[in-house]
Amino acid sequence: MITNTELEYKGNLYPNHIVDYVRDKDKFYFTTENGVVLEITVIQDRTIRFRYATEHAFQPDFSYAVDPNASRGYSHLDCTENQTEYIIETARLKVLVDKKTLRTQVSDLKGNIINEDELGFHWEENYEYGGNTVKMSKITQNTESFYGMGDKATHSNLKGKRVCNWVTDQYAYGKDQDPLYKAIPFYIGLHNGQSYGIFFDNSFRTDFDFAHERRSTTSFWADGGEMNYYFFYGPEMHKVVKAYTNLTGAPELPPLWAMGYHQSKWSYFPESNVKDIAKQFRDLKIPCDAIYLDIDYMDGFRCFTWDKTRFPDPKRMINELSEDGFKTVVMIDPGIKIDKDYWVYQEAVENDYFCKRADGPRMKGKVWPGECNFPDFTNPEVREWWAELYKEFMAEIGVHAVWNDMNEPAVMEVPTKTAPLDTRHDYDGHPSSHRKAHNVYGMQMVRATYEGVKRYVYPKRPLVITRAAYSGTQRFASTWTGDNVATWEHLWIANVQMQRMCMSGYSFVGSDIGGFAEQPNGELFARWIQLGIFHPFCRVHSSGDHGDQEPWSFGKEITDIVRKFIELRYELLPYLYTMFWRYSKEGTPMLLPIVCYDQEDTQTHFRTDEFIFGEQILVCPIQEPNAKGRRMYIPRGNWYNFWNDEVVEGGKEKWVVADIDKIPLFIKAGAIIPKYPVQQYVGELEIKELVLDVYFAEGAENSTVYEDAGDGYAYENGKYSLRNFKLLGKTNELTIQQFKDGAFITNYETFKIKLHGLPFKIGEVQLDNEKVAIEDVMPNGGNIIIVNKDFTQLRITAK
Ligand code: NOJ
Repeated sequence: MITNTELEYKGNLYPNHIVDYVRDKDKFYFTTENGVVLEITVIQDRTIRFRYATEHAFQPDFSYAVDPNASRGYSHLDCTENQTEYIIETARLKVLVDKKTLRTQVSDLKGNIINEDELGFHWEENYEYGGNTVKMSKITQNTESFYGMGDKATHSNLKGKRVCNWVTDQYAYGKDQDPLYKAIPFYIGLHNGQSYGIFFDNSFRTDFDFAHERRSTTSFWADGGEMNYYFFYGPEMHKVVKAYTNLTGAPELPPLWAMGYHQSKWSYFPESNVKDIAKQFRDLKIPCDAIYLDIDYMDGFRCFTWDKTRFPDPKRMINELSEDGFKTVVMIDPGIKIDKDYWVYQEAVENDYFCKRADGPRMKGKVWPGECNFPDFTNPEVREWWAELYKEFMAEIGVHAVWNDMNEPAVMEVPTKTAPLDTRHDYDGHPSSHRKAHNVYGMQMVRATYEGVKRYVYPKRPLVITRAAYSGTQRFASTWTGDNVATWEHLWIANVQMQRMCMSGYSFVGSDIGGFAEQPNGELFARWIQLGIFHPFCRVHSSGDHGDQEPWSFGKEITDIVRKFIELRYELLPYLYTMFWRYSKEGTPMLLPIVCYDQEDTQTHFRTDEFIFGEQILVCPIQEPNAKGRRMYIPRGNWYNFWNDEVVEGGKEKWVVADIDKIPLFIKAGAIIPKYPVQQYVGELEIKELVLDVYFAEGAENSTVYEDAGDGYAYENGKYSLRNFKLLGKTNELTIQQFKDGAFITNYETFKIKLHGLPFKIGEVQLDNEKVAIEDVMPNGGNIIIVNKDFTQLRITAK
């Protein structure tokens, strides 16, 4: 075995043997003879933090990513030692620390290795900037696969790839281009049926190498800061994602309308154009909940102002749109125009809120308004000021929501596309250069925006959207994947990016449907809508300079198809809202790549296209022109083809028919899918009945419907309605039990139960243990049962 002293080559330094060990409750400190300290903290039985100091000294412990409300606590903790190692044991895991090298190994309680250091922690001193380049290398396990890492536009399985985290404005990015807009240094490893995650909480530029340089090694490193990572154990992938989301936080429930269809373009102006777009939606009966104003609503691109020739009376306009069900979303960028007569600029100068260069001058950069200064959002006082700037927009003018763009921050006409690295930041009282603050700059901007919007839309719920993000940003804002292109390849990219973001704790995400740059033809637009309605954030946006991109821009056939799919999204709102509730409450990802749905089936490990929407709907987009269908992998189990109720048995690839008006779509056998009637916007109709699409299966399956007022905070005080349905199917009998919780009274009492795939003719129906006349509950025959009360049990038996 090579010792670490022999490895001190090429400028790399390594820890040597342990000379001291101290335990402080849930923390363990191991100090080496050459001054390295490893701090291991047991956060939960399956979550462990590893942190390394050199020269005996840790930096102040501070993180923007970690949610202050993250839960902590373990049920068992013990530390023992033998001749060669220390052994920390929780109720789930064993961590070995090698006495000679400080290398660690994590295994389950049976001793199966989950993750182990190769060279482990090492570092290089950085004489140019001070501090260290901190590095970690791990052994790549046999058959190991890797997932996660935010918005990377590459194959979902990262094995063999190297990626970098440095948030970047990447206009018209291509497949495999990296880095993009997000810095989410979190990955999931999967091998031998075991899954774990690693979150490297370091906001400097980070790089990850997944068996790319050397097949047997997976490594990650940062340009500065500490080697500070969290280890999460599954063994199921979805538990790893949940544990990471628990640490870095999940968003609160957005208003229900945020789940509707949104229409955007760069830019809709003047007012008459906005009104015209809104009218066409209503005239053509295409549901839509929100319309977006891009930068051109501003006066000379000055944030928090209006161009009064284009929008003479924004309050009136927003109010009128709102009477017709449209919410207005406006853009706010970070760059503040240098203009001595502009009040936002004046306030920032007076209070010294702009970022400064190393030697004192304000940091300057060109964006839409020309030369700008940039508020230092890493200063809490600046964030508070920024939050207050939203008062007039939200509380007086009535703007409903805000999207923050260009917050990488994007700077034009410079090769780095961003702020100079010597720019200074407060970093919440830990002064730093832009090297450390760059990846969190956009996050802190949108955090301030969220605070302000939330404060001033109260008692309604906020919706904020961001382009740049670091881990944890999901607590504050939804996001989109930036400036994509109207190509078939980008449809593939969008599909992979959304699944990957969901695996990275960030589920409230969507792409610019149809593509931002260039223009799709009708077929591509229709195929993208078919996918986009299954993304948590569903918005068409385009650069606008290549033509129109509204649902009616491509002729009647496409308009009809697009309407049909947007209608399906509105029907599925209770299902989607329930998905969001689970994400918000438990950190459950809203979309699951099929590997996360069934990791034991190795067939799923390299699939990119198929995903599970929520827990029971399988979706697979058509990604090629002129397709009449496609081959796809159906995960194990029985699935109903949504379009014709044909049942297919999974565990194999299959050709699935899907002409231009269909997308391959399957419902898990046993599922009960809740639906609302089609509405032109959320709240248009009083919901008088809940449709329950019941997909028969033998055996048992649970389904859930979460509802509340769809806005406001009463749900936090128990005003929600949670229906848990249990389906029990036998060859000659179907029972549906309902368990209710919560104090919210839904408007409807009628359940329209549509039975799919019932294998027998109905002989008897029992409602809450009493026999009812079939003609009463099935007035129109067919397979529809109408129940006019909040039942606890429905039993159907064969003739
Ligand atoms: C870049 C954004 O990504 C895009 O969505 C927006 O339309 C333009 N900036 C103009 O504001």
